[in-house]
Amino acid sequence: MADLKVLIADDEPGMRLALREVLRSRCQVTEASDGREAIALLEAQAFDLVVTDVRMPEATGLEVLAKATALPQGPAVIVMTAFATIDDAVSAMRSGAADYLIKPFSADVAIEAIERAARRRTESRRAEAAGSGAASKRTPPQTHPLIAEDPAMRSTIEFVEAIADSEATVLITGESGAGKEIIARHIHRRSRRSAGPFVAVNCAALPETLLESELFGFEKGAFTGAVQSRPGKFELASGGTILLDEISEMPMSLQAKLLRVLQERTIDPIGARQPVQVDIRVLATSNRDMMAAVESGQFRQDLFYRLNVIGVEIPPLRERPRDIEPLALYFARKHAVRNGRPVPRLSEEVLAHLAGQRWPGNVRELENFVERAVLLTRGEVMTPDDLRLSARCGATPMGASTRGGQETVPVTLAEMERKMIVTTLRDTGGNRTRAAEILGVSVRTIRNKIHEYGLKEAV
Ligand SMILES: Nc1ncnc2c1ncn2[C@@H]1O[C@H](COP(=O)(O)OP(=O)(O)OP(=O)(O)O)[C@@H](O)[C@H]1O
Ligand SMILES: [Mg+2]
Repeated sequence: MADLKVLIADDEPGMRLALREVLRSRCQVTEASDGREAIALLEAQAFDLVVTDVRMPEATGLEVLAKATALPQGPAVIVMTAFATIDDAVSAMRSGAADYLIKPFSADVAIEAIERAARRRTESRRAEAAGSGAASKRTPPQTHPLIAEDPAMRSTIEFVEAIADSEATVLITGESGAGKEIIARHIHRRSRRSAGPFVAVNCAALPETLLESELFGFEKGAFTGAVQSRPGKFELASGGTILLDEISEMPMSLQAKLLRVLQERTIDPIGARQPVQVDIRVLATSNRDMMAAVESGQFRQDLFYRLNVIGVEIPPLRERPRDIEPLALYFARKHAVRNGRPVPRLSEEVLAHLAGQRWPGNVRELENFVERAVLLTRGEVMTPDDLRLSARCGATPMGASTRGGQETVPVTLAEMERKMIVTTLRDTGGNRTRAAEILGVSVRTIRNKIHEYGLKEAV
């Protein structure tokens, strides 16, 4: 880092001085006192990194950013802005800034951001130098939990990273399996609350009364069976983030209570005499059209506006085709390792096949599909043959309608289950152990189901 050339641009001399003091021993620092001077310096010299204020005389930080990103081999840019003007940070991130700092910030925070930006810049230089990128893209990410290579997803992630460390409530929408929860976790990790708890509550999974006690907790004796008081998820999330998953399913009576939580940051545990203060950041997800839920009267409009302070929409997988391959490679590795198998390579045909699916169940469906295919792959390379079985229970081809179609679609869960068991047994030549492995259930379950559905003759 010592040979890193950094340009600091800020019209406040105090800010420049502070940054210079922090960076002096670590990098070579040059200063500009307004935007125009910064741009002139960028034209005249090569820098690795620019740390710039957004609101400056002569030219803004966003203009400095535009100049920097237009330069071949240009520097990485970190913008600085006040909390009140967080919108500037969001626009800067969208225009290619590496990171942003909210004023006032500590020396540690600045150093960390600068080191991170410098590291990323070195890595991307190295990747560029390594050639066309095709080869490096084939290398599955090792432990990267959040994969995003498609520009549509990259810009979504840049956006959430830009708003991660505000306290604003975020409503994350997107189709089932698109990655709403993983994005919520990412926001928490990148927030100032990352050292605190992350608590997720599925609002669709519990009936109303249980959901209420789950969220708000109760005092001893509040109702029959409350032999001991228990804190709710809001209290457990204090100091951290709570994720209200599938918020559109929250019953009306609880919507009113939630509104109070959002407005006042206090909760009333069931049976409690005193409200309890909670220090939480609220994130929510929905895979339904919330506006429609509001219009049809199923969701309170005032609550919707409170939740949707920042709205993030996760694009469906079919709208970010460049994510399919890296995700498939990552899942192939993950499930091979987990199942103690060698990591298969994916043949070109397999990749082409995956790229051509519609994936109505999005990333989750892709993951399940690849997992099954990994279990079916016997050689070193996964071939279309290995996908045959997986496809039976999997995706719809691109262009085909999700509903209807030629094939008779099972209408109940039991029918679906029956169909999957029959198909799998047929494809494994009636091998129950193998079928159980593929379906992820015990041999005993398979045996019981065969009995239950009277499948003896069918297979
Ligand atoms: N970009 C990604 N990189 C790696 N894994 C991902 C990515 N997106 C989603 N996944 C994985 O796919 C699965 C589904 O993601 P997630 O649970 O976040 O979706 P969701 O939108 O919350 O789905 P649902 O609407 O069904 O609740 C998870 O196992 C998650 O880890
Ligand atoms: Mg989810």
